[in-house]
Amino acid sequence: MKAGTAILEAFYQAAGQFVRADDLGRHLKLSTATVSAEVAELEKIGYVIESHPHLGYRLLGTPDRLTADDIKARLGSKVIGAEILVFEETASTNDVIEHLAKSGGREGLVVFAESQTRGRGRRGRAWVSPWGKGLWFSVLLRPTLPPTAASRITVAASVAVARAIRDSCGVDARIKWPNDVMVNDKKLAGILTELRAEADEIFLAILGIGIDVNCGREDFQDALGGVATSLELETGREHDRVALAASVLAALDEWYRAALTDFETVADEWAKLCTTLGRQIVVMLGQRRIEGFAQALDSDGALLLRRDSGQLERIVGGDVIVERA
Ligand code: BTN
Repeated sequence: MKAGTAILEAFYQAAGQFVRADDLGRHLKLSTATVSAEVAELEKIGYVIESHPHLGYRLLGTPDRLTADDIKARLGSKVIGAEILVFEETASTNDVIEHLAKSGGREGLVVFAESQTRGRGRRGRAWVSPWGKGLWFSVLLRPTLPPTAASRITVAASVAVARAIRDSCGVDARIKWPNDVMVNDKKLAGILTELRAEADEIFLAILGIGIDVNCGREDFQDALGGVATSLELETGREHDRVALAASVLAALDEWYRAALTDFETVADEWAKLCTTLGRQIVVMLGQRRIEGFAQALDSDGALLLRRDSGQLERIVGGDVIVERA
């Protein structure tokens, strides 16, 4: 573990209390001079750290900057997030993951960008990704699933994102089929899963997630004005992006694993958080309009829609345009 990560981890474990410099040094196998140099580095990038000649160091404030050290310090050791890269700006983090996967990137590698110039959503839509206002990131996955069950990954990711937002921000986040995370009927986060697969094998799944954390009204294009929102707009206060990043990655680690081994648990949690199930809905699959009753998820993560004729239709993807009780 890098010294910066280890020192921040010790500060978070101390939860606002002082940590003695010699304890830190012994624990991290660093000289007190190195500890003091590392603390100075953290201060340079915006951490507020109180130093006391006898009591040691105490973390008083953190900057609103995504860094791999800080996210890892709060995350601990997990498969998802074992390696984290943070870019100031990229075209799309999904493309960066694809590139890194080709050069042997491991499952669990996560790429964040402070901003994206060509962030994309489903169906070729643009995803607005203003600098420093959200969490725009992608995860490299190599799931042992047949391509027919790829929908499980998106379902698990939507549970993880909704759960993390609920638990760390105290917001009533809900899921709308297939992959939107909503608050007060407005879209707060979206998920774009892209696959590289052959008939019976997924080589690579790129899980791209965008969460509007501290975006203001001015950040949304006119067309999104009525339908998109951010945590700040919904709660009237700024949210800690690093803390949220760590809780989303921890939740992804848990729910992705469950998606591979025990999908029933994921489907149950999804059903609890989802606004689409148990309603009469209209799904648009391209130009095709399908109306029916959203009944359940099947074991591959597809939505089962009961048509008026009684016929059961299996839906993968699509846009739900109407949800009625
Ligand atoms: C959607 O709701 O349409 C999906 C939006 C996904 C956006 C994220 S932001 C990080 C990653 N990189 C992209 O270009 N898109 C995804």
